[in-house]
Amino acid sequence: MDNSDKQYHQIAQLTTAQSDAPLDRIGYGSCGSIWADSSLFPYIDIYGCNSSSTEPITSVGEEAVFPIVLKRADGLPDRSLTNEAVIHRHILSTLDKFNSDNQQCSASSPAGPRLDGGGNIFTDGHVVNIPRHVAFFEPSAPMWNQILPRLPSDSTTCQALVSERILPLPRDSRALLANKFWDGPAHLRENIVNDKRNEHCLVRPYLGRRRCRNLKAGTQRTTEEEGDENKVMVDERPGHLRLKTRGLISLRNYPLHVDQIEELVLPAGEYAAAMADALAFLLWGCEVDACDVEFVLARPRPQDSLAHDMASIGTRKFSTSNLGPHALWILDFDCCKPLSMTMEGVYLAAERFWRNDPYYPTPTSTSGTSGDASNNNLKNKTGNDEFLWKIFKGLFLEVSTRIMDWKLETKTAAWKSDGQVEGTYGGQARQQKLLPVEFIKRVEETVGVYSKGIPIFFSSS
Ligand SMILES: Nc1ncnc2c1ncn2[C@@H]1O[C@H](COP(=O)(O)OP(=O)(O)O)[C@@H](O)[C@H]1O
Ligand SMILES: [Mg+2]
Repeated sequence: MDNSDKQYHQIAQLTTAQSDAPLDRIGYGSCGSIWADSSLFPYIDIYGCNSSSTEPITSVGEEAVFPIVLKRADGLPDRSLTNEAVIHRHILSTLDKFNSDNQQCSASSPAGPRLDGGGNIFTDGHVVNIPRHVAFFEPSAPMWNQILPRLPSDSTTCQALVSERILPLPRDSRALLANKFWDGPAHLRENIVNDKRNEHCLVRPYLGRRRCRNLKAGTQRTTEEEGDENKVMVDERPGHLRLKTRGLISLRNYPLHVDQIEELVLPAGEYAAAMADALAFLLWGCEVDACDVEFVLARPRPQDSLAHDMASIGTRKFSTSNLGPHALWILDFDCCKPLSMTMEGVYLAAERFWRNDPYYPTPTSTSGTSGDASNNNLKNKTGNDEFLWKIFKGLFLEVSTRIMDWKLETKTAAWKSDGQVEGTYGGQARQQKLLPVEFIKRVEETVGVYSKGIPIFFSSS
């Protein structure tokens, strides 16, 4: 079976070749809507299932497949999926190269602790999964003939990306969130847990924000939480679930603030370490600015026959916790751009760091100011926030050095074979190795300078 046959088998999950049943819309954002056939993978959400179960990959026909989603570019007119497809593939191919070089490296010099400078860069790192890429469709793709009948009748062809589905957290995890954080009428708790929509439960770990902001009585929820189905509705105390007037409650993309992570006794330090690895890899390994990427806690990948094809940074599982087995995933690369390996690039990356949703741990101000008024969170920092920032910063710098060494070794060979003089590429290599320290310095210097969100001028940059 060649690659195009394999691709066809994967995509069959979304087509009339597999079923005539309508696809489920499991999410949407400003770029477009996300669709999947959940019925193919019933283990994704079996009521009352044991959350530690990891089932083997299912098959369509005779071919083993993993669950997939279709991202349709039916959102804002200025958003294109072409860029996302290019960046997503670039990240995966860099990761592939990186992991295979690392395997060879660990085989020849067995990995020691992360600080000893030898062995596999991410050996001791926690798993961060990146959804596998399956296909990219233009509006003219013949495949639409078999997909459109499964979408709402007014749907038209458009650009679309097909990629691996991030498996949602199971019912037990939804029950945990509802039990801990729903403080509305108790009889509605079961409804939240059993709501079909909430089966697509992904949790956003917000290591950079606490819920308990000093909001005045009667303050409305913040505009960033307003009007986006994917953001959980919160009441005046952000992070508390509340019933929307339309009667909807969402556990999709549930923002789990650092104080909630503490309340659930989840391994915040391990999440910080995993994010440090992931950000270092995107910035220096892939040379991508990580603009607006999303991190979610979701199911780990099943232990499956495709294990050799893992699109993952790191190998270590998170400590056992009452959320059950879970992994960190990164998604949504449509706003990402190539990052120049210069000080200009460093400044841009620091701005992207602050403008993203508050996934990363953050430093407190080194200049003695508490930041701008929009960043109330800075006033609520605790010792644990400092601790998380220390973990993040330490590992980010350590891993960045290793990634730079790996990249520059590869590049130096290319530069040499291009006939460049040693002085030139040696100078470039030395200059690039300073960038991670400059990045951290810039982040620490710009506490409270940037507010969240992509600036309006971004789309034309
Ligand atoms: N591969 C995936 N698996 C599962 N859910 C996904 C996947 N991709 C996106 N989603 C869900 O759909 C939402 C919107 O998708 P996203 O790629 O962020 O679109 P946009 O670029 O418009 O923001 C995500 O926040 C997430 O909840
Ligand atoms: Mg998004």
